[in-house]
This record gives sequence, structure tokens and C-alpha cells, in this order.
Amino acid sequence: MKRDFLTLLDYSKEEINELLDISDEMKRWMKEGTNERPLSGKSMAMIFQKRSTRTRVSTETGMAFLGGHALFLGMSDIQLGKNETLKDTALVLSRFNDLILARVYGHEDVEELAKYSRVPVINALSDKFHPLQILADLMTIREHFGKLEGLKIAWVGDGNNVCHSLMIGATKVGMHMSVATPRGYEPAEDVIETTKKIAEKKGVTLTFTNDPKEAVKDADIIVTDTWISMGQDAEKEKRLRDFAGYQVTEELGKLAKPHWKFMHCLPRKPQEVSDEVFYSERSIVFDEAENRMYTVMAVMMKLLEKR
Ligand code: CP
Ligand code: NVA
Repeated sequence: MKRDFLTLLDYSKEEINELLDISDEMKRWMKEGTNERPLSGKSMAMIFQKRSTRTRVSTETGMAFLGGHALFLGMSDIQLGKNETLKDTALVLSRFNDLILARVYGHEDVEELAKYSRVPVINALSDKFHPLQILADLMTIREHFGKLEGLKIAWVGDGNNVCHSLMIGATKVGMHMSVATPRGYEPAEDVIETTKKIAEKKGVTLTFTNDPKEAVKDADIIVTDTWISMGQDAEKEKRLRDFAGYQVTEELGKLAKPHWKFMHCLPRKPQEVSDEVFYSERSIVFDEAENRMYTVMAVMMKLLEKR
């Protein structure tokens, strides 16, 4: 049975920690240099229905370092969406490639690819989940705090794909989490229900509020994301109005623990976080971005059974 990487719901705490350990190993390899090329002769098709800087560049670079080849397939490069279905695309690509990575709109699209692909499929962001991002976030938190369990992470922003995956990843590894969203922008009901159960099982708190001040109280980490995700451009004006008061600032952070750190998956817009916070010592966003490379390398190594 092949294994996919579509959502962290499919991975246990132990498996997530193992991926983080492999990510640390990949980071050492990259920093120290290695002659090992475990993915030599392997190839991966990367379907991008949306833009990307970090995901694309980290994956192509990481794959090259490991000796394999990643093919970037943008929406005007392949037949998908015009002349060919997801099903046929999956059936064909998995005859050529050892892995398929896909950034899509509807999460059901990456599920459909996985259903018909003979080879493992990696979700590189869907409207519902962004699991690769959360592996990098957990790796970064572990590097800065030396642990994950028992820390409190506060989400201040949209209850979106990144928020969903963070709710799953954080509760699974034993972190407390609070989520502040404006009314009407709460996370999806099914993700709330599922993660509440995980939190209960792990003995951690998971709370929801419409008040950013309440969410950041005693937090070790404050995290946000864009208020306007890819595909939501038509809602821009309304969203900017509805998210007023949600900017992460030093003032807001006064309610968090004195050592609080700031995270953002990027790309960032100034309305979400002040420059004062974003470019400060508190901000670990560029470590977070760098770690995207080691974590995707770990996922590829694991799915190709090299670890
Ligand atoms: N954080 C993230 O996924 O960035 P890109 O959209 O640039 O890949
Ligand atoms: N929530 C954002 C994340 C971008 C990396 C989006 O889906 O556009």
C-alpha cells in the first residue's frame, strides 16, 4: 500500500516527530554537505494550480540536493484542466514519476489524484490544508524552544487552510492552541470537531474566540497568515474591513509570555503584522521559511522509503 501526504490527520504524533527528526538530519546534510544522493534516479511531478515561491523553490532545490529531479508543471504547461481530467493525469504521471506533488484549489482534487495515482501524492496546499507548512512550523518551534509539548500557540487571523493544519499538528504533538478569528471566519466545523477530539485525547486545551486579546494570553507563539488566501481576491475589500483589529503588534503581544515569538507562513502583507514585530528578534519567519526545504526533503525521503 502506498502512503500519501495529504493531511496531518493521517499521521500519528510519533510519525510527525519522526518526520521532524528526518528534517533535522536533512538540515545537517545541507549545512555540512554530504555525498549521499539517496533519491538519485527518482523523479517527481509537481502540479501547481496556484502560485508559489517557497513550496516550489524549496522542493525543487531539496530534490536536486538529494539527487532526484522535480518537474514544475504550471497550469499552462500540461493538459490538466483543459483537455484532461485529474484521474487521467494521475494515471499517466504515475507511470513516469515516483512521486506527485500538487497545489490545488479544492482538497478533493488532491484526494482524487491520490486515489488514481500508483505513486505517493503530496499535498502542497489545498483550500483546506497545508500540511507541509506545519511540519516546517513545528520544526522551527522545536529549534527555538527545544520542545513542542506544553507550549501554547495562538492563531490570530483567518480560520483557513494553514490554521486547519496547525490545529491538527499542534494538538497531535501536545501543544495548547487558541484560535482567534473574526465572526464568520472561524475554521471549518469538521476540523473543529476532529481537533477537539484530538485535544481531549492528548490532554491539551484548544479554544476558539473572536477576541485576539483573549487568544494571545500567555502564548509562547503568536501566528498569523494572509487575510486573503489565493482564490479569494474578489473578497479583498470585505475581508480587509472584517479583519480590522487583527494586526499582530507589540501592543497585542504584551498579553503573551514575555519571550513570545512570531510566525507567519508567508507571503506576508503589512496589515496582518506590524513591521516592528515582523522584522524584530521575536520573528522567526525566515527560519520557518528555510525549514520548508528540510521538511519537504524528509517527506520525500519517507514516502520513497529511504528512511
Ligand atoms: N508558505 C507557502 O506555502 O509559500 P508559497 O505560496 O510561496 O509556496
Ligand atoms: N492561506 C494562504 C497560504 C499561502 C501559503 C493561501 O492559501 O493562499
